[in-house]
Amino acid sequence: MSSPATYDFFAPGVVEDPHTLLHRLRTENPVYWSPQFNGWVLTRYADVLAAARERRLLSPPGTGWLDRLPEALRRQFQPARDSLRLWAGLCGEQDHLDFQRALKKYFTPATVEGLRPRVQQLTDELLDAVRDRGELEVVEELARPLPARVIGELLGIPAGDRGHLLRWSADILCFFQHVGVEALRRGQRSLLEMQDFMRPLIAERRRAPGDDLVSVLVSQDQGFFAREPEAIVANCVTLLFTGHETTSHLISRGLQLLLRHPEQLALLRDRPELLPSAIEEMLRYDGAVDAMVRVSGESLELGGRRFSSGESFVLVYKAANHDPEVFPDPDRFDITRSPNRHLAFGMGASYCLGAALARLEAEVCFRTLLERMPGLRLASETPVWKPMPPLGRRLQFLSVAF
Ligand code: HEM
Repeated sequence: MSSPATYDFFAPGVVEDPHTLLHRLRTENPVYWSPQFNGWVLTRYADVLAAARERRLLSPPGTGWLDRLPEALRRQFQPARDSLRLWAGLCGEQDHLDFQRALKKYFTPATVEGLRPRVQQLTDELLDAVRDRGELEVVEELARPLPARVIGELLGIPAGDRGHLLRWSADILCFFQHVGVEALRRGQRSLLEMQDFMRPLIAERRRAPGDDLVSVLVSQDQGFFAREPEAIVANCVTLLFTGHETTSHLISRGLQLLLRHPEQLALLRDRPELLPSAIEEMLRYDGAVDAMVRVSGESLELGGRRFSSGESFVLVYKAANHDPEVFPDPDRFDITRSPNRHLAFGMGASYCLGAALARLEAEVCFRTLLERMPGLRLASETPVWKPMPPLGRRLQFLSVAF
């Protein structure tokens, strides 16, 4: 039997290159009990897919590891716990369904497509601002502000106030990472600030509904949002967070991948109709969500083993998306890959509700970049990364010239 340390998710180098560890794990021990996660780590595509579709596997409460802090600290983080308890999919099953029903009312294909002109305008504004400079810092000047502006508009946040969104979103990320207490305090401060900011806007939508997302949430007259007065405010935070950090990663990392693979970039320039397929490959190759946790609500079989109720599972989407059984030559970035049934947006009952919006934002953004900046190239060979242990990292700085 392998010793637990054989698969050390926090070892040096794993953040930079998670796939060496994940490939080894998938080959040697695809359903692996990890003492570091206190759960079963799934790395085969088939197992991750089955787990994502398994209705007897539930999302654990969002307060998970805040609940495990020592008593005094737990009390300090009570306001964050009260909010996280209400986050989508992290509440009870019926509340989750109510949440999804409300959101699906807003995120129809027609509504998302209707956002295209506005996304285009916002992209153009951001690129106009750097047009004469010949250089662009992708993360701060495009990848972070674009999704923040889009989600800010969906939430009805006035343009002048959208600056705060970037800080709130970055700080709130802490609740989903292995970070220290100081970062958690910052996260809680930002979470409460955003909630306080949203309250009067929500009250205003109650008085005078518009066609934005908040108006849809306040118009629910039964179920989760009608019963829990704080659910709307808490889920505005969810939407900012889920809609922003992920899409921002897709834009910055996706562009870096294209620029690091000049033959793929040249192919895309020759055949712009490949853009949707290129975006799917960016999502597969390095999607924003590395893994999600589930807990068994009753006993079940998975990956050829029997599990009892109350066990934890880590669905490593990142490993599933590089499984050679499903994706030939999985570590190759290939914008023509087909089929490409990646799990970057999850699958099953928690499938991403914003997938169409994320794809639209990426499509508008990459198409505009390619059209407006024909000589686009990396200005520096060494991008700056922010580690996000155990398995991820985000670009913190990516300079390009055009
Ligand atoms: C590239 C961008 C994005 C990626 C990679 C992504 C990925 C994901 C993943 C993997 C899940 C499922 C998590 C699980 O298995 O429990 C998810 C759920 C979700 N996403 Fe996204 N997402 C993106 C963009 C967005 C956007 C733009 C929005 C909304 C504005 C959004 C809203 C949501 C919501 C509300 C859920 C929860 C769904 C539920 O529990 O029913 N996402 N996302």
